[in-house]
Amino acid sequence: MSVVGARPNFMKIAPFIQAVNRHNKAGGEHIDHVLVHTGQHYDDRMSASFFDSLGIPAPDVNLEIGSGSHGVQLGQTMMAFEPVVVEHDPDWIVVVGDVNATLSCSVIAKRLKKKVAHIEAGLRSGDIEMPEEINRLVTDRLSDLLLTPDRIASKHLTDEGVPEEKICFVGNIMIDTLENNRAEAAKLLISEIVAENSIKEQPRKEISLADNTYGLMTMHRPSNVDHKEILTALMRFLMDEATQEVPIVWPLHPRTRKQLQTAGLWEEVLHHPRILLLEPIGYHAMLRLNVGAKIMLTDSGGLQEECCVLGTPCLTLRWNTERPITLREHGGASVLVGNDVERIRTEFYATLKLPNQPVSPEYWDGKTADRIVAAIIAAARTTTSV
Ligand code: UD1
Repeated sequence: MSVVGARPNFMKIAPFIQAVNRHNKAGGEHIDHVLVHTGQHYDDRMSASFFDSLGIPAPDVNLEIGSGSHGVQLGQTMMAFEPVVVEHDPDWIVVVGDVNATLSCSVIAKRLKKKVAHIEAGLRSGDIEMPEEINRLVTDRLSDLLLTPDRIASKHLTDEGVPEEKICFVGNIMIDTLENNRAEAAKLLISEIVAENSIKEQPRKEISLADNTYGLMTMHRPSNVDHKEILTALMRFLMDEATQEVPIVWPLHPRTRKQLQTAGLWEEVLHHPRILLLEPIGYHAMLRLNVGAKIMLTDSGGLQEECCVLGTPCLTLRWNTERPITLREHGGASVLVGNDVERIRTEFYATLKLPNQPVSPEYWDGKTADRIVAAIIAAARTTTSV
């Protein structure tokens, strides 16, 4: 049984399911697979569109949890997931990433004495204020098989006392998805992406988006968008300074749109002549925009990784990252700037001068999902009869 809940999970499960299918076609022990969607993300643009475009089969079970406070979301997911596990009685439950679905379902899986495999184990930001850090810590503590994207993550686990035999360095599964979809994304025209995804209430804007001339931005972390002063300072820099250098394309997360409205910034952003607001966009559209971007400004974990492989110079709007391998000091494309405008300003101008320089860390090679299936089969052989 594998579990997804929110947008960043979908690009991690797609190649896993394909690898399970490849394995089954090749013969050997057959893996029966059930896909559960907790429904944490439910808008078409946050969920269904990814199933369609990445070829993920419709979930066998949708718990339809939706939005809510942490307690409501975590608790309701646990309540709804328990009978599903009892009914399907899987040997292994595969959870991915660090969203609320990952935490709730790994807790219930262990309560019901199931084996848990965690894809993207061992990431640590060191910031316990982040909901995702709590999700990562608990999930890793409970997991029987910890599948890591890089050697830094494996070392975190060893340092925390996880036995070596539970840790398996498999590489970054997001890069499987990137490699599988590069060619498709390259076919998209930026003008079409803009026409199809532009926010409706936005006035027509004459912004030219030739490759290597625009900035691409995403922002949704509570630490950046939930505090009016921080959000206002970031927006002032964007609207008054950054856009003088490059126009900015910005697909808006629903949380961010809501907070811009609450902070009284919405109208100004919506009418800014150098900011192009898009609805949340699909995987291929984002990949295409990233390939063409001169600079990325983001607080997303996945985009930091994709910038690394695509070579897009990136400002990470966070004070820490659970993905240090993406940082320039580790050979990656990004630099941490937090949400301090002084620091963002300095790094923004410096970063604009940087060339596009793709790098691929070890095992970020598009073959991670096959290594994961092999690792789960090997672990299952030693723990249960398959
Ligand atoms: C979640 C993940 C975060 C991930 C992000 C990517 C956790 C703790 N956080 O944060 O790690 O980077 O997804 O998007 O799991 N909303 C909609 N439509 C939807 C889903 C959400 O409008 O389909 C709105 C709701 O107002 C909701 C808000 O977005 O309250 C936040 O959604 P939520 O699932 O609580 O967390 P994210 O901020 O999306």
